[in-house]
Amino acid sequence: MYCIIEKKVLAPTITKYLIEAPYVARKRKAGNFVIIRVDETGERIPLTLVDSNTDTGTITLIVQALGKTTKALALKNEGDFILDVMGPLGNPTPIESGKTIACIGGGVGTAELYPITKALKDAGNTIYTIVGARSKELVILEKEMEQVSDKFYITTDDGSYKRKGFVTDQLKELLDANLGINMVYAIGPLPMMRAVSNLTKPYNVRTLVSLNAVMVDGTGMCGGCRVTVNGKMKFACVDGPEFEGHEVDFDEMLLRNHSYTDMEKISIDRFLEEPHVCRREGMAS
Ligand code: NAD
Ligand code: FES
Repeated sequence: MYCIIEKKVLAPTITKYLIEAPYVARKRKAGNFVIIRVDETGERIPLTLVDSNTDTGTITLIVQALGKTTKALALKNEGDFILDVMGPLGNPTPIESGKTIACIGGGVGTAELYPITKALKDAGNTIYTIVGARSKELVILEKEMEQVSDKFYITTDDGSYKRKGFVTDQLKELLDANLGINMVYAIGPLPMMRAVSNLTKPYNVRTLVSLNAVMVDGTGMCGGCRVTVNGKMKFACVDGPEFEGHEVDFDEMLLRNHSYTDMEKISIDRFLEEPHVCRREGMAS
């Protein structure tokens, strides 16, 4: 059992959790993720490790309450426990140095981008960061991202904060300005990572994306997270989660990620009807 030490709402539906998990904290590297289970009847979901503290033995997760499991997690409070935290999983991000890198975070994907951007900055790279959100209230980690960037930009779809538009509008301007950007990291919703990859391809700029595939075991055995990269089948959990954006079959991945939408909706509806009833025992918990 893993205790929630701290819980802080960052934006509507987006919450930061500090969870006591000393073994995971000790081994975490930028780019790793964990698979959690909230309780014994719950599904397993992957969540990127945003940070860790070996002194306090805690890990940081930032979670958007979208599906049944993330909504169940959102009902937990400081001092409550979650059943499983398995990890760290996935390959750590290869941290190169001496480059000029554009780090692009879309929505809650910004949380996943933060540890990578920090590690790239610490390694001496020049960092141009672009954070995009639908509106001002959904911008997260603004201060933290700015601190690990040489140049920092925010876009909002509705123009309620900073530049109006998508992250790709700002990125195109930077690429056209010939600033020497020779690498791009993009983490966010699939349509954003596809749009960033399509944009950088004609500029011949290497682009890494982090694929949030459906996962079950996280160890390469179930095949749930398979993706096609450069025409070959890969497992996001053990071969990734980062891949060359120009080689990813995003259309196939979008189809696969949406294949459970109907079942997810049924599951959420059932959960919302009885949000605090323990169905196993048939009584309020
Ligand atoms: P969102 O839909 O609000 O988009 C965030 C930003 O991405 C937008 O403001 C825009 O700048 C950019 N964007 C979105 N679509 C674009 C497009 N077609 N072209 C160019 N730019 C575009 O993001 P959200 O609601 O916070 O994201 C939720 C999704 O992100 C969920 O589906 C979640 O699974 C996914 N996600 C992915 C990762 C990952 O590791 N890749 C991590 C966390 C969340
Ligand atoms: Fe099962 Fe990747 S989650 S193979």
